[in-house]
Amino acid sequence: MTRTVVVTGGSAGIGLAAARRFAAAGDRVVLLGRHEGRLDAALASVRAAGATDPLAVRADFADRAQVRAAAARVAAACDRVDVLVNNAGGLTRGAACLRVNHLAGFELAHLLLERLTAAARPGAPARIVTTASLAEAWGVLDVDRPLRESLWHRSRWLAYGSSKQANLLFTVEAARRWSPLGVLPTAFFPGLVRSRFASTSPLFMLGKLIPVLYAAPHRAADTLLWLADAPAAGLTPGGYYFLRQPFAATPRSTSLDRAGRLWRASLTATGVSS
Ligand SMILES: NC(=O)c1ccc[n+]([C@@H]2O[C@H](COP(=O)([O-])OP(=O)(O)OC[C@H]3O[C@@H](n4cnc5c(N)ncnc54)[C@H](OP(=O)(O)O)[C@@H]3O)[C@@H](O)[C@H]2O)c1
Repeated sequence: MTRTVVVTGGSAGIGLAAARRFAAAGDRVVLLGRHEGRLDAALASVRAAGATDPLAVRADFADRAQVRAAAARVAAACDRVDVLVNNAGGLTRGAACLRVNHLAGFELAHLLLERLTAAARPGAPARIVTTASLAEAWGVLDVDRPLRESLWHRSRWLAYGSSKQANLLFTVEAARRWSPLGVLPTAFFPGLVRSRFASTSPLFMLGKLIPVLYAAPHRAADTLLWLADAPAAGLTPGGYYFLRQPFAATPRSTSLDRAGRLWRASLTATGVSS
């Protein structure tokens, strides 16, 4: 049966590289992106890769109304979602970083949960694959008040690290709550990737002068594709992976207690029901 794969951040970088591979393998691909020109080009690119009935949905994840409208469009177009790739994100400062990199994906996953469970079969769960980062290690996330404008989060790298902690904590708690419903959430670190990410950071751009440090997006997407395709029995619900192997995160990003508290605070912040 043809799978339906929804890719947030599908208009560029890792998300687009993954979407092209899903399309080439015969999956129906739904791309979410923010920039109209990039999204149009991405749609043409997945068509060229073999997608038969692709859909592109534009939404700025900084705007909750646009997230909800995008979810409604996806739900109207797809009676089930086999894989949700929760990948959109960027390097910004303040609460906006948490909104885009965590809360938008959190809300979208809730709004598509019925479509995910509709795709689940015994022994073949639907999947949520989240793009996390090593940057979680320096996050300073307040799990009870994730949108609090803290002084720390004036630094975009600290704000970004906190949002990536949130990605991992989301994965841990989603596994606890949604595995019984037939949904398998995992997360991965793509490595350092030659994409548009952090193009405003002089240090990050300087690093790109050393090509061996940075992977091309299609290589970085390998673990994402593997988490979407590998037999579910070999994957750990809530697990974090790098190069197809389990990867260690800091206890702040894997604590069940923090995961539960962030989930409750995220429900409050988004207004979605559990
Ligand atoms: N690059 C790295 O070294 C690296 C390392 C670790 C983790 N990551 C993570 O990998 C993920 C993908 O990044 P990438 O490297 O592929 O970078 P990218 O080429 O900049 O792609 C980012 C994607 O996210 C979308 N996006 C960003 N802000 C958005 C917003 N406000 N609303 C909706 N969509 C938005 C972009 O949409 P538009 O293009 O339409 O604006 C784009 O499709 C991110 O979560 C990033 O944190 C990247």
